[in-house]
Amino acid sequence: MAAFRIGIFTSGGDCPGLNAVIRAVVAAASQHGWEVYGFIDGFEGLLSPVRYRILEENATVGIASLGGTILGTTNRGRFATRVGLGQIQQIPKAVLDEVWETVEGLEIGGLICIGGDGSLTAAQQLFEVKLPIVGVPKTIDNDISATSISFGFYSAVEFVTQALDRLRSTATSHRRVMVVEVMGRYAGWIALFGGLAGGADVILLPEIPFHYEKIAHEVRKRIAEGALQTMIVVAEGARPDHGQFVTQDEETEKGVLGEIRLGGIGRHVAKMVEQMTGQESREVVLGHLQRGGPPTALDRNLGMLFGVAAVRLVEQKRFGEMVAFQNGHVGSVPIREAIRATKTVPPDCEEIAAARAVGIAFGD
Ligand code: F6P
Repeated sequence: MAAFRIGIFTSGGDCPGLNAVIRAVVAAASQHGWEVYGFIDGFEGLLSPVRYRILEENATVGIASLGGTILGTTNRGRFATRVGLGQIQQIPKAVLDEVWETVEGLEIGGLICIGGDGSLTAAQQLFEVKLPIVGVPKTIDNDISATSISFGFYSAVEFVTQALDRLRSTATSHRRVMVVEVMGRYAGWIALFGGLAGGADVILLPEIPFHYEKIAHEVRKRIAEGALQTMIVVAEGARPDHGQFVTQDEETEKGVLGEIRLGGIGRHVAKMVEQMTGQESREVVLGHLQRGGPPTALDRNLGMLFGVAAVRLVEQKRFGEMVAFQNGHVGSVPIREAIRATKTVPPDCEEIAAARAVGIAFGD
């Protein structure tokens, strides 16, 4: 009798820990005697010309420590379910039919989609046409609902923390204001957790609209108190009260290829602060450095737990569910619950209250 066969793919922006999940899935599946087909470049590998690699157990030894994804990925293209400023789009029926043909043709009994909110939205649409699919949440942004954490997030936070440590010494030497722009899309988790760990003086989040005058006031106050530098962390999705998102895309690209790319707010903040305070300011955009490189120990272990849990979901035929970390345990939730809303930072959360208690400003 032919071995039971599963498919796996990574989708959306890459992040540290993806290979740890792949390794765990292959290792756990091989314990069951299953075969694992790894589809190339995300959902696209399921479409003609179908592209996959058979993932042998011994060929995946040691990959958990590698950044990126050995399978490739894309956050654009025919499966883009989130476009523009996050509006949801339906995948065309012809594309869904083609996925069905691939899955039937290759006799895949279960598909594991490792992805963020956009990819999980696509996975839900595939599940609604009865494809046997389960989800594994991945994102550096930590913005997926129904899971308190996703792998990739703490690796990004670690990088932001180290960057702040380095930038502080040069800011101090030059008595400058240093504005550090970080990723996170419409959620401020990376800015908040990285900013706190890296000792930021001001943290600007999408969840708390800011006022330039409040930031300038903070800088002037610090100078009067003898501070030699001011470290400002700004999330790419932060904006002034009643202001717009700063984006990098041309008008023509919007909504066609996928989601709008945020970025550039750091430059505005640095310019305004310099103008309003007379204090020399510089901006640094950490960009994709936050996504690259090896995962931290925590993200490797989380990836392992998630991979094993995904294999369990397939074994129990709990399709349409996503692995989730809740109350200190790995469990699962319906994918539709995870994609219902973006998980943003509650402005009254413990971390923000503690930050305010130690004098960190949020520009409000
Ligand atoms: O969702 C992950 C993320 O890194 C966001 O923080 C960022 O806005 C976006 O992806 C960048 O996407 P791209 O790799 O397409 O530039």
